[in-house]
Amino acid sequence: MGSLFRRKHYAENADSGQLNRVLGTWDIVFFGIAAIIGAGSFSSLGEAIFRGGPGVIILYLICGFACAFTALCYAEFASRIPTAGSAYTYAYASFGELIAWVIGWALIMEYSFGNIYVAFSWSDYFTSFMERIGVHIPDYFTCSYTEAKKAVLNNSNNAELINAWKSAPIIGNLKIIVDIPALVINGLITWLCYQGIKESKNFNNFFVILKLFVILLVIAVGVAYVNTGNWFPTNSVTSEPSFMPNGFAGVMSAVSGVFFAYIGFDAISVLSEETKNPQKDLPKGMLISLGLCTVIYIILTLTLTGLVDYRKFDGIGDPLSFVFDKSNLNLPWMEFIVSLIAIVAITTVLLVFQMGQPRIWMAMSRDGLLPKKFQQVHSKNKIPSFATIITGIVVGVPILFTDKTFILDFTSIGTIFAFVLVCGGVLMLPPKEKIKGRFHLPYINGRLFFPLIFIGGLIFFYFYQPEFFHKLTNISDPNEGEFRLAIIIFIIVNLILCGLAFVKNLSLIPLIGLSSCLYLLTGMSHENWFWFGLWFAIGLIIYFLYGYKNSKLNQTKNAFSE
Ligand code: ALA
Repeated sequence: MGSLFRRKHYAENADSGQLNRVLGTWDIVFFGIAAIIGAGSFSSLGEAIFRGGPGVIILYLICGFACAFTALCYAEFASRIPTAGSAYTYAYASFGELIAWVIGWALIMEYSFGNIYVAFSWSDYFTSFMERIGVHIPDYFTCSYTEAKKAVLNNSNNAELINAWKSAPIIGNLKIIVDIPALVINGLITWLCYQGIKESKNFNNFFVILKLFVILLVIAVGVAYVNTGNWFPTNSVTSEPSFMPNGFAGVMSAVSGVFFAYIGFDAISVLSEETKNPQKDLPKGMLISLGLCTVIYIILTLTLTGLVDYRKFDGIGDPLSFVFDKSNLNLPWMEFIVSLIAIVAITTVLLVFQMGQPRIWMAMSRDGLLPKKFQQVHSKNKIPSFATIITGIVVGVPILFTDKTFILDFTSIGTIFAFVLVCGGVLMLPPKEKIKGRFHLPYINGRLFFPLIFIGGLIFFYFYQPEFFHKLTNISDPNEGEFRLAIIIFIIVNLILCGLAFVKNLSLIPLIGLSSCLYLLTGMSHENWFWFGLWFAIGLIIYFLYGYKNSKLNQTKNAFSE
């Protein structure tokens, strides 16, 4: 049993001094924005607005807060384990092998499945751009089969999806509906990764400026057309004007889309050995990039919801250009510029994730948890060749069978789960001596602060959102059963954490990170949990059939040595 939790020991100074310390705070900020801003802001924002209305900005604040605390935990791990910065490596050192495997398995959801969503979003902007320049791609070649089918079953207003279903050619009994642009971009990105292209700082910075430019342009042009009446549409229950037309529950139902927009900041943690002064620059850079993205997301959401009634965003995958199309502001030049730049901007996110996945698999293979093939490096291109191809297949095949909503939920639940374990991992780390030039997570004793914050937060919420508590206690309403169960589990887990914080003097920052990520998990539906559980179970089976026996730690007498 103990061997399931055998830990890998990483020498603290293993790689020190081998890399050039060239990055300053603003380089870190640029790197962060490069990884963070992508399909979440260019695409999933549309569905998030449809679900939560203008009030979805509250969720952006909550997610930004949860990510900022998780980022600090990543920074702490990165300063202790300089070998390879991913949650997998961190978990191997603190929780042991089984949890490390689970995280590595969950990271497939962040990196590979996340890229399926990004590929779908890329396709939305590509299609809208082609339409603008007069090239019409048939609707049944621009969306996925399940997305079109769901639109018909749900009586969606999305004309393209309905048309895709109605006009699709039929072979045998099967309607041929395939997102061809998404498949093609995945093929191209896999090919590029296989060629061993390198991320360069200049290349990165150029794309960050481009992304920021287009978002600021949408805001600057949009502001002139904002109709503030759109910020207070009619509430679906009370029929009163409301900032949250579907209530707080509507806002929380957008958690996957909003959280997705923040995914990627964890990639910054790999830069600790290349940062001039990691103790200051790394956490500062992470927090500034998260803060900037939060502010950008809020202003962007306010602009979009002021331009067009939130209900029109149903099924809209290219919201930033959609608001300028002829059925809305009718500014064709803006629609053109936005779709063109979005195509380029989203491509860079695809590259970052498609390059990240094979490297995580390589690390797992080196530890013996995946077959040796995954560490095979191409002799000329110097890339993990087999793992790169498998990543292309893992991203490409589901494009044929899944849809955007499913993939978005799946990615977000897996990533939040990995963040929960990272924050929990920091709680388990022994105190370390402060070393100059290294990041050191400030220790604030959570013994009293954490229970005070949690219980104070509950009381505040009770007065701020009384109907939320009304739903929680109104057990006669079967529709709210799922929500009630999630919140009750959340409260129980947090009360246990309060007790542990009190008894063990736990550190406040990771506690808050852990608690806020757990809160985000309460927004997931039982369907998400089912698929996540299934994925989890498959991962465990593979571990017991392969990783447990082949682990490098199984082959050494001393499980604590490398
Ligand atoms: N945050 C990244 C994006 O929005 C994953 O594309």
